[in-house]
Amino acid sequence: MKNEPPILTVEKLIKRFGGLVAVDNLSFTVQQGEVLGVIGPNGAGKTTLTNVVSGLYRPSEGRIFFQGKDVTELDAHQRCRLGISRTFQLMRPIREFTILENVMVSALFGKGLDLKSAQNRAREVCEFVGLKRLKIPIESATVLELKKMEIARALASGPQLVFLDEVMAGLNVDETNEMIETVKKINASGVTVIVIEHVMNVIKELTHRVIVLDRGRIIAEGSYEEVSHQPEVISAYLGEEE
Ligand SMILES: Nc1ncnc2c1ncn2[C@@H]1O[C@H](COP(=O)(O)OP(=O)(O)O)[C@@H](O)[C@H]1O
Ligand SMILES: [Mg+2]
Repeated sequence: MKNEPPILTVEKLIKRFGGLVAVDNLSFTVQQGEVLGVIGPNGAGKTTLTNVVSGLYRPSEGRIFFQGKDVTELDAHQRCRLGISRTFQLMRPIREFTILENVMVSALFGKGLDLKSAQNRAREVCEFVGLKRLKIPIESATVLELKKMEIARALASGPQLVFLDEVMAGLNVDETNEMIETVKKINASGVTVIVIEHVMNVIKELTHRVIVLDRGRIIAEGSYEEVSHQPEVISAYLGEEE
């Protein structure tokens, strides 16, 4: 893993919203096959980082390389076709559609498949994440089913790198454990994963390496064991008002 070129390289990335610096000069790499954890208090810039790397937002400064290619100027759908995908922390399912149809939409647009192939692809990824009730409307779905659907939508495009933005939020202990297994399965299938998560146990269980963000900056980086004992990490978390 170490000797291969990184799948993702982020160089001096800055994202400003007016006077606010949400992502403040971030540089890091992600290795092919890795599960990288990104943690930090609310407002630290985790979702903004996801938005900028996936192409939803353009960076104010800095560059993004995916598999050695500079993708900084590419649109989200172009980056998606190259293999970068993500879930949305604020899920936006199409309410009038079933679970399967929602996943199909991603297969159609994310991967550019025709209708029949998109349906097959959607069935495949739904089965992969353990979704069984494919024909139910969105309002009948449980939180776990919605979260799995969100992951299935991200996987429908056949990504090599996927950002999972707080996909465990709102799940109980059993559901969280089921989701941990799902993420392990995604990674075992060859997909590099960036997990954004609040629950430290999930990070401990899943990640090879962790980046800790606070106010848009990296304040610590290393294994879970290494970062979880650092005073600045503890104070960043304890300083957070829930
Ligand atoms: N589209 C936006 N416009 C203006 N400010 C934003 C926007 N998105 C995020 N922010 C701000 O950027 C900061 C980082 O937010 P975010 O990336 O959502 O943090 P996190 O995901 O770590 O909780 C916050 O102060 C947030 O209010
Ligand atoms: Mg967020």
